[in-house]
Amino acid sequence: MKKIALITSGGDAPGMNACVRAVVKYCLNHNLECLGISDGYQGMIEGRGQWMTYFDVDNIIHLGGTVLGTARSEEFRTPAGRKKAIVYLLSQKIDGLVVAGGDGSFRGAQAIGEEMNIPVVGIPCTIDNDIFGTDFTIGYDTALNTVVEAVDKIRDTASSHHRIFFVEVMGRDAGFIALNSAVAAGADAVLIPEEITDLTKLVHDIKESNKGRRGTIIIVAEGDDAGGAMEIMQKISPFFEDRNMRCTVLGHIQRGGKPSAFDRILASRMGAFAVSQLTKGLSNIMVGSKGEDLIYSSFNETVKEHSVPNMNKLKLVEDLRTNSQKF
Ligand code: F6P
Repeated sequence: MKKIALITSGGDAPGMNACVRAVVKYCLNHNLECLGISDGYQGMIEGRGQWMTYFDVDNIIHLGGTVLGTARSEEFRTPAGRKKAIVYLLSQKIDGLVVAGGDGSFRGAQAIGEEMNIPVVGIPCTIDNDIFGTDFTIGYDTALNTVVEAVDKIRDTASSHHRIFFVEVMGRDAGFIALNSAVAAGADAVLIPEEITDLTKLVHDIKESNKGRRGTIIIVAEGDDAGGAMEIMQKISPFFEDRNMRCTVLGHIQRGGKPSAFDRILASRMGAFAVSQLTKGLSNIMVGSKGEDLIYSSFNETVKEHSVPNMNKLKLVEDLRTNSQKF
């Protein structure tokens, strides 16, 4: 193996740059050339690659976003789009591909691997942490800390005004950010997509926990079945006519910012490990972490299902809630 291509794909995640740096530096230090392609599969289709040097990746380990750019390419889903991408990779004599992204990006990698017959390795990057085959995805720890910091600030104003605050966090299909931020920020209730939401119970829980207290925090994952935070607040507001309610949607601030030390370390290890597995001849795998170890699993496994958070934490949030009946 002499020349590999690298893309970042799907939603950006803090730590992607540390990952790009690791892949490029590991390649250069092991006599491989690395073609960094801009804007994921779309850039591959359009032939927008650049042979990376040390200088391209120095001073990026601490930056959020991805210097390569990313995209969700519709054209790449078509055989004609993929053909253009393959023609470009062949023209550059690429003999291995590394894709840093989510499970949608790995399906694309699988298709390229099969249609072009080159080895492909995936690196899990998403703030959602829902990729099967790894304890942690790159970006999740930073996003979680961003949310906790934001909720701490919301708590200041919530308690000053004796308000009930609904805070919507990201996680279209997954409650990792919501559940763990609820524990870490000491929220009074949390709603996640993995569990059917019972609004009658929510009203009961808020009433029970909230009497005579200064503020209440409810964390809502954006993918909750009962709706977004605003919708849920509106649905239950008739039961709290004497209370002031507010809603904050944290949105894309969760995806930005400096990666945490945890994400930088994970990204550096996974980036180097991905290239080393590629050079060993492995293909169609995603690298992952399990405890302190790095592991890998086949794309077939990782794209089949999503991982789910530890549901015992729902009970923990309840167990640690103030119960005004017991004052
Ligand atoms: O998959 C990561 C994620 O941040 C989800 O949590 C969120 O629903 C989605 O991406 C938002 O995507 P976009 O930036 O395309 O709106």
